[in-house]
Amino acid sequence: MARVVVVGSINMDLVTETDTFPRLGETLFGKRFAQYPGGKGANQAVAAARLGAEVTLIGCVGDDALGAQMKTVLAREGVDTRWIATGREATGIAQITLSGGDNAIVVVSGANYELSPADIDRAEAAFHAADVVLAQLEVPLATVRHAARVAHAYGKPFFLNPAPAVALPEELLELTTLLTPNEHELAAALQTHGAAWQDVLRRRPGRIAMTHGKDGAYYTTEDGELKHQPGFSVQAVDTTGAGDTFNGALAAFWHLGMAEAMRRANAAGALSVTRAGAQGGMPTLAELEQFLTSH
Ligand code: RIB
Ligand code: NA
Repeated sequence: MARVVVVGSINMDLVTETDTFPRLGETLFGKRFAQYPGGKGANQAVAAARLGAEVTLIGCVGDDALGAQMKTVLAREGVDTRWIATGREATGIAQITLSGGDNAIVVVSGANYELSPADIDRAEAAFHAADVVLAQLEVPLATVRHAARVAHAYGKPFFLNPAPAVALPEELLELTTLLTPNEHELAAALQTHGAAWQDVLRRRPGRIAMTHGKDGAYYTTEDGELKHQPGFSVQAVDTTGAGDTFNGALAAFWHLGMAEAMRRANAAGALSVTRAGAQGGMPTLAELEQFLTSH
């Protein structure tokens, strides 16, 4: 069983479904509203925990009802919530509009942006015990960089899912064992706009796994050979959190080697889109294994 430390965001997703996206100044009647636990950090933590990893999440919520609810959900998933701080701001939310298979998202970070390097230091024991440390970019970059430094100091692999897209400082890239962007995030993270992503992957052999939607994922081996892990075809209900499921699974299965971890992460990501909500549809280990034997 892998021990995974996730450093990242915790949001409540406020999801509305509409026939069309509202235009500027327009009022629409939506079809449905639901609240789903989300946030890239929480999603990746839950994905790894369902797959049997021992997961600690380092994050920050507000001193409010949503924060309490998110901690309860995480604890119920078996995630260690001891290092979730309570900030002064409100718990983060993501306002998500779903329409015809597309989504539009507004994130209000709130307490997530209070997660500090000191919060990382407080959780140092978790880094010490970890097999993999996993982070995204919905908490302050300075905190992510500090987490990368602490992981490095303990000799632990540091995975960075560079989402949402932003240019990354070279030091953070150097400290990252595996970068897991989509195509757009890759160009932003490495500032390689215009270059073919295949070339970018080859420039950092063994250090990038790029997700490519339904097409699956790509990575290069340490000797620079480009590999494709084809996607699994499923009936998509809600693609929110598919990337997070991929990342959580990749960390949980890293010890099986890149090729097998990628295959499983891809399958887990595919399964996640078959149910509503970022965390709905994330498979348990048994569900994943059953899916893989039948595909
Ligand atoms: O990656 C999906 C997540 O991004 C959602 O759960 C939402 O909270 C946003 O942060
Ligand atoms: Na889902």
